[in-house]
Amino acid sequence: MTERQMTLRQFLLSSRRAFQLDKDLIFLLEDIATACRIISNHVRSGAFNDNLGAADATNVQGETQKKLDVIANDEFMRHCANCGRVAALVSEEVDEVYWLKAQPAAGDYLVYFDPLDGSSNLDVNLTVGSIFSVIELDSAPTRTDEAAVLRSGRKQICAGYSIYGPSTALVFTTGHGVSGFTHQQTTGEFRLTYPDMQIPRDTREFAINASRLRYWDAPIRRYIDEALQGEDGPRGQYHNMRWTGSMVADIHRILTRGGLFLYPVDRENQETGGRLRLLYEASPLGFVVEQAGGKASTGRTPIVDVVPTRLHERVSVIMGSAHEVERIERYFEEAT
Ligand code: AHG
Ligand code: MN
Ligand code: MN
Repeated sequence: MTERQMTLRQFLLSSRRAFQLDKDLIFLLEDIATACRIISNHVRSGAFNDNLGAADATNVQGETQKKLDVIANDEFMRHCANCGRVAALVSEEVDEVYWLKAQPAAGDYLVYFDPLDGSSNLDVNLTVGSIFSVIELDSAPTRTDEAAVLRSGRKQICAGYSIYGPSTALVFTTGHGVSGFTHQQTTGEFRLTYPDMQIPRDTREFAINASRLRYWDAPIRRYIDEALQGEDGPRGQYHNMRWTGSMVADIHRILTRGGLFLYPVDRENQETGGRLRLLYEASPLGFVVEQAGGKASTGRTPIVDVVPTRLHERVSVIMGSAHEVERIERYFEEAT
């Protein structure tokens, strides 16, 4: 067996030795991998089990839940609860903190997740994924203390995602680079297929929901205007656009070949602080992107430095190839 094909378990054990990772984190990652494998099966067989479509419920953000959002959420909750060290869960689909422990202790874990990202893609058979993040409590909170889970992304000890595309992949970081695994259907195992993922520092590809152009701030418009002018504009090069409607899929593409993902706060969404949620979307993917040599910013601040004041807080998102994120940060600076 070559190094590139080691199983997730072999990889976790060797990482434990190399970086003194806690054994509970290894168990938790294995449980998360199991949840993702099961969710992947549900996603693939949704049309046969009457699992496509809406669930007849809305979440705390006022979004209509899909049946698979609910199923994926249940799988994440069930598997994360296997690890005795997890004190609480924060999910996109659950209004409040879900405490598992009656008396949380310092050193316990908090797990944040978006059980299905891009779920509007489900009914049209396009790629979706799951996003997760883990932090370790540095003091013992009470169960009523919501502030205890409102930590900046710098506190993450692990973050990653699984993507349910042509193949199912699991990508994560424990703060020592980014590793990607593909689910091998014949053996049922995740195998290391993308060791040490690196985002190229330069790119000529961006991901935007262009229908929001009229709401954007000047620095974002400037960046896109210049890119669209191609060879004839100030950038002097053709720029390509890709947008999947599923952030996790766009970020996976960027981790694979570079690019820039933009979902900034704009005139229309500024009341809610943006579109994407900090704790279980922007912050975990920001940590992964940084660990792969990219950058993740609000335009003014690294995303992982933003301290949330609310559980489902939203944030401006600009992430991907480092030089392009720096360019937009420069445009923001020049605009003030
Ligand atoms: P979710 O399915 O978890 O609610 O997240 C969807 C997110 C993200 O994946 C995507 O980039 C963005 O919402 C797209 O939103 P719009 O279609 O509203 O632009
Ligand atoms: Mn999402
Ligand atoms: Mn979701």
